[in-house]
Amino acid sequence: MNPTASPVSLTRYLIEEQREGRIGPNLRLLIEVVARACKSISIQVGKGALGGVLGDAGSGGEASINVQGEAQKKLDVLSNEILLEANAWGGHLAALASEEMDHCVAIPDEYPRGKYLLLFDPLDGSSNIDVNISVGTIFSVLRCPEDVETVGDEHFLQPGTAQVAAGYCTYGPSTMLVLTIGNGTHAFTLDREIGSFVMTTRGMRIPEETREFAVNMSNQRFWEEPMQQYVGDLLAGKEGPRGKDFNMRWVASMVADVHRILTRGGIFSYPLDSKCAPKGGKLRLMYEANPMAFLVEQAGGAASTGRQRMLDVRPTGLHQRVPVFLGSKNEVEAAVRYHAEHD
Ligand code: AHG
Ligand code: MN
Ligand code: MN
Ligand code: MN
Repeated sequence: MNPTASPVSLTRYLIEEQREGRIGPNLRLLIEVVARACKSISIQVGKGALGGVLGDAGSGGEASINVQGEAQKKLDVLSNEILLEANAWGGHLAALASEEMDHCVAIPDEYPRGKYLLLFDPLDGSSNIDVNISVGTIFSVLRCPEDVETVGDEHFLQPGTAQVAAGYCTYGPSTMLVLTIGNGTHAFTLDREIGSFVMTTRGMRIPEETREFAVNMSNQRFWEEPMQQYVGDLLAGKEGPRGKDFNMRWVASMVADVHRILTRGGIFSYPLDSKCAPKGGKLRLMYEANPMAFLVEQAGGAASTGRQRMLDVRPTGLHQRVPVFLGSKNEVEAAVRYHAEHD
């Protein structure tokens, strides 16, 4: 049998990485458990209206509002529960944190405690679930600091450079897991017949140049001056200072927009605007911006707040928000230049 011909499953990839000493058995187990939870979420998402999982959470007409101030969707809550249950017993985690939970939760006392911290956005792009547009799950793994008796939110406040793994699962026409453990960014597609993720791209690479940008243009009048100038020049096309025409895409599911950019290039931006500026931005640093920044940098792209490399940001809060620019390296650097020249 020719071993190089058979498809590389996620399990085989992780065992090979462990054999090379790039990850240990507990991190390998953690990633497998998260991938299995994503398969369960994919099944729930795929049921749509037939599964009674659409619409808002909450009961008696009362919306269920999360710590973000957002009305939770039923699938936000269900995806969160699936990830909590899947990770409780494995012995690889010390605690978990989620977009949908005010504070981190420790592993229940009846289970062994591990040395990793898991953060996740259990369902990203929730506003799209009721209109059948791709959504996803984003996750980030940190090491739990040594000799911590009781894990608290403060132990999660590590810069993005401290991540040991990051990934997302996108629930689209196919379900795909995109993962980095710091040795490149790789894509796995769920083979539903055998129920396992199979590597379909080893080493995703983002082209350094692009002609495609992703931003919610309806916020344009609220942007800071450098962002107004930057996008104004993009829209001026080849007659303008950028000298080339640009195309625009905006899915409003970060996972879907970032997956497109990892696949064919582009720049994604959710900049500061006068509405979200008081909170520091729209997107969350710990379980949206940082995991995506790790994946993008490992694929040869760049990720910035517009004024600082994303992975260098020193977190001050579990649900801290940041402005985001990420994608094709040269385009992100151009956007950063507009901010530097303006500040
Ligand atoms: P979430 O559904 O996890 O709360 O995240 C939604 C985020 C992100 O996925 C997307 O890029 C952005 O919100 C879209 O924001 P707008 O709806 O303001 O365009
Ligand atoms: Mn949300
Ligand atoms: Mn999200
Ligand atoms: Mn979410």
